[in-house]
Amino acid sequence: MATTNEELIGRSQVDDIEAILAVSNGDSDSKQHSIVTEQEVSFTWDYEQTREPLRKLYEKAKTSQWNANDLPWHIEVDQEAVVAANQAANSYLYQEGMDMSGTPFAKWGDKEWLAFGVESQNWTLSQFMHGEQGALLCTAQIVETVPWIDAKYYASTQVVDEARHVEVFARYLDTKLSGHYPINAHLKALLDDIITDSRWDMTYLGMQVMVEGLALASFGFMRQMTTEPLIKELLRYVMSDEARHVAFGVLSLQEYYKELDGKEIRERQEFAYEAAVRMRDRFLQQEVWERMGVNVKDAVNFVMQAPDRPIFTGMLFSKIVPNCKKLGLLDAGDGWLREKFTELGVIQFEDWADTSEEYGSLDAVTQDREEAAV
Ligand SMILES: [Fe+2]
Ligand SMILES: [Fe+2]
Repeated sequence: MATTNEELIGRSQVDDIEAILAVSNGDSDSKQHSIVTEQEVSFTWDYEQTREPLRKLYEKAKTSQWNANDLPWHIEVDQEAVVAANQAANSYLYQEGMDMSGTPFAKWGDKEWLAFGVESQNWTLSQFMHGEQGALLCTAQIVETVPWIDAKYYASTQVVDEARHVEVFARYLDTKLSGHYPINAHLKALLDDIITDSRWDMTYLGMQVMVEGLALASFGFMRQMTTEPLIKELLRYVMSDEARHVAFGVLSLQEYYKELDGKEIRERQEFAYEAAVRMRDRFLQQEVWERMGVNVKDAVNFVMQAPDRPIFTGMLFSKIVPNCKKLGLLDAGDGWLREKFTELGVIQFEDWADTSEEYGSLDAVTQDREEAAV
């Protein structure tokens, strides 16, 4: 029953650049993208809240709401200055004295690197915004499909959270940055997969555990790296919600997975792997290279071999791997997912904190309240 890489991700070698780039967004000019889904929508007549961890999470969500309008939007952002400061402080891809000969960047000087940094920031924030809309739709779907009342209650709070996240990223892009990008093809394919899967728990695994797990890690990374105070604060609030969302996924699936047999668990492992590969592919930011007018294949080839790429990719998975372990997905069956995550070079995070435990420590609204009380 071994499923091959071809069947799962459409290529036998995970780093096959041509196959990765063959996935592109064909209708990037259209304003609407509709998909037909076949979901079973469930009423429940059992109103008793029997799941204590979900009830606690719901209570927390109700008292941790915030208003996007209260962020310090008056802060002016000089995007070029911010990008230059970030590039000076961090060395990803661009390193002083690095040998670029034979790469598309051989002739690049400070001006081109700065232009790239600006595009890259527009692209990154645009993908965050699109991903947040994915979360909004997926969570609305969970309200309908999950059979438990406590999960429906909690998910309804997440719908509000996600609307707010789309709102803040859109507003930041429109008022502080210099242009939008359409959704990345790999991210789009992943969101479509998650939304069309008719099994309610797959929405959770794809969205709450994989996409939001990655979002939480990459928001944290950006927050740490940036010198810009508004985005720092914006991300602090978004992360405080995201940590709850990931915890919601882990706590719900932990219960449900106990009922599944070996074959069903294997399908979840494969789904997690597929999602991981798509998310890794999206971070190659092929659309930015296109816009910068360099040969995309050569650029991606360079990115893949950049000395700090393993650290960057690994960081993206620092929440996903421990959460998959907590769910028993890493070692179920013959440990298939452990092997796959080892191949992707991300297994080293397996014993980091899982999010079902750490969400309390990231709660921005409670932190503010405690600070105000001192
Ligand atoms: Fe979100
Ligand atoms: Fe979220």
